[in-house]
Parts: sequence; structure tokens; C-alpha cells
Amino acid sequence: MSRPPIVVRTLPALRGALTGLRARNATTALVPTMGALHDGHLTLVRLAKRRADRVVVSIFVNPAQFAPHEDFASYPRTWKADLAKLAAENVDLVWNPDVKAMYPDGFATSIVTEGPAVVGLEDRFRPHFFGGVTTVVGKLFTQCRPDVALFGAKDFQQLRVVTRMARDLDLGVKVIGAPTVRERDGLAMSSRNVYLSPEQRRAAPMLYRALKETAKRIGAGGRIEPAVAAGAKQVSEAGFALDYFEARHAETLAPIASTKAGPIRILVAARIGSTRLIDNIAV
Ligand code: PAF
Repeated sequence: MSRPPIVVRTLPALRGALTGLRARNATTALVPTMGALHDGHLTLVRLAKRRADRVVVSIFVNPAQFAPHEDFASYPRTWKADLAKLAAENVDLVWNPDVKAMYPDGFATSIVTEGPAVVGLEDRFRPHFFGGVTTVVGKLFTQCRPDVALFGAKDFQQLRVVTRMARDLDLGVKVIGAPTVRERDGLAMSSRNVYLSPEQRRAAPMLYRALKETAKRIGAGGRIEPAVAAGAKQVSEAGFALDYFEARHAETLAPIASTKAGPIRILVAARIGSTRLIDNIAV
């Protein structure tokens, strides 16, 4: 039996609802989202339920992480369907502030990130992005004060940046990364996949195929540079405009030249038509 979650849209209502949820020392997990929920988000919710007594999902399309030329206005908003999915998962609370509640008039403070946020991956192509993400996630953490928070590994650099921020600012929340959920053909689930035309959708799984083949080559002892170049070529030949295809140290995201230098993560970002997709894989 599904039960609709409590939905709150103001900070006083959120505080009241959280006091109720935390009765008898119940622990809470937060799953931050921008809505347009798919199975990747629902997997985070299910993991959250295993890590805490109560689950809070935030739905907020955060204008601060979109550049003016990006898709803030057209980002898919599917409130009714989202709520039905969260009810079916027995989520306890949905935090759904509007922009004014999150960024009141005169809002003038944001979080500045370094370390994994300035390694020349997403930050090179979306320079506004991590400032926007960390400011909103920092606010979500202080608003909801969860014991744990769950983020998908598809946004691998985001996961590293948020983990670092929670540690650096002593936010008292354990950040947990969850494996990427994929369609049957390997395409990483993303709210932006709905933008793909049927032809682009057919080409899209090439990203994961190229990542897998590159990881296999490096894992089998192949040199990183030629393996990565071959992966990049595969992606470009499938019709993508490549932003990056790189092997990085899986913890620091610094460039890495050899498997002896630490665990490796291969990360890709590429555009097909006007849709930008990202993905990554461990070696
Ligand atoms: O990954 C996302 O959906 C967003 O970047 C997040 C973490 C909810 C912050 O707006």
C-alpha cells in the first residue's frame, strides 16, 4: 500500500515536519533531486531507506546551477508523476521550496569550491555549475540536517565535490554515492534523456560502450593515453561533439598517467544535438 508523503514548501513547515519525523531519535536520509524522477532516483530512495529510519526527498530545480544559455526553463518538470513515484516508495517527506523560499530577496552568499571542483572536467565547460550545486546542497543539508545524503555516481565529479564540501564545512552528514542506474542498452539514466530524438537515443549507448572498452584496455595493462584516445574517437565517430573523455584519479580527479598511481575513473561528457550527456566508469 502506498502512502502519500507529507509535502512542505516553506522553511517553518519543513522544520515542523522534521521535528515530527525525528521523534524517538529516528534518523533521516536526504535524497536531493531536481524532480523528473526516474529509476536512478528511486534506487537512491531505496538505498536511503536502508540507511535511515525516515526518508526526505527534495525537489527543487536550482536556477543557480544553470548558465543563462542552459535548459533551466525547459528542464522537465513532472510534479504529479514524481509525487506518485515517491508515494509508491513510501517516502516520508518531500521538500519542494520555490525559488523565493530558497533564495529570498537580497540573497548574497554562496559557497566557493576548489579541490575536485576545479580539475578541468565539468568545471571547464560549466564554470557556474559547482558554485550553484554546492550552495544549494549546503542549504539543503542545513535546512534538513540529515544523517546521510545520497547522490548518484553518474554525476561523479558532483559526488566528489559534495563529499568534500560536507567534510570541509563539518556539516555532520555522511554523503553516500550510489552506482549509476542504466537502461537495458547501457545508457545512464538521466532526466535529460527525454530530450533525445529516436536517432540520438539509438546512438547514445555508445558513450557507455566506449567507457567499458577503454576501462577494459587499461585494466588489461594497456597504456592510458592511447586507450583514452581510442575511446574518444569511438564517441566522436558515433556523432557526438566531445567535451572531454579522460582518465582521472578516482579520489582526487587529478590527471593520472599510470594504474600504479591510484584507482582510475574514466569520465566522459559529450553533446549529441543540443543534449549534453555525461557518464563515467571505474577501471
Ligand atoms: O544532481 C542533481 O540533481 C542536482 O545537481 C542536485 C544535487 C539535486 C542539486 O541541485
